Amino acid sequence: MDTHRLIELAIQARKPELAPYSGFSVGAALLTQTGHVYTGCNIESSSYGLTICAERVALFKALSEGETKFSAIAIVAPGSNGAPPCGACRQLLNDYAPNLFVHIASLNGEVNTETIKDLLPLAFDGGFLSDE
Ligand code: THU
Repeated sequence: MDTHRLIELAIQARKPELAPYSGFSVGAALLTQTGHVYTGCNIESSSYGLTICAERVALFKALSEGETKFSAIAIVAPGSNGAPPCGACRQLLNDYAPNLFVHIASLNGEVNTETIKDLLPLAFDGGFLSDE
């Protein structure tokens, strides 16, 4: 699947608009190595700290369906350059998709592509837990 199609799916994923408190609706589309796409939007709570980001919704949907190999994620957010994933999402994406390309896109066509490795230097990962 090409990057533009993945970004289109991330734009559509914003649609439920479940961000009434911030007004900042984010969409994510996560591509598996076998070509399946799992989407997510951010879901906010009146108890603000319970909010979950779009990227983690997409990742958790995919993981809970048994997916294990991922190639790219498109993230679309308001603003002229969109928004990069937060630190919590970087950690989970690196844990479960360490070879991921991350397309950070705006609503008007700006795209910046990074790797999850570049977005999370000196990462903590499961390797440290078995290196006692
Ligand atoms: N948000 C995401 O969905 N992804 C990110 O990586 C950054 C932040 C959401 C969480 C919250 O609903 C809103 O954006 C404002 O922080």
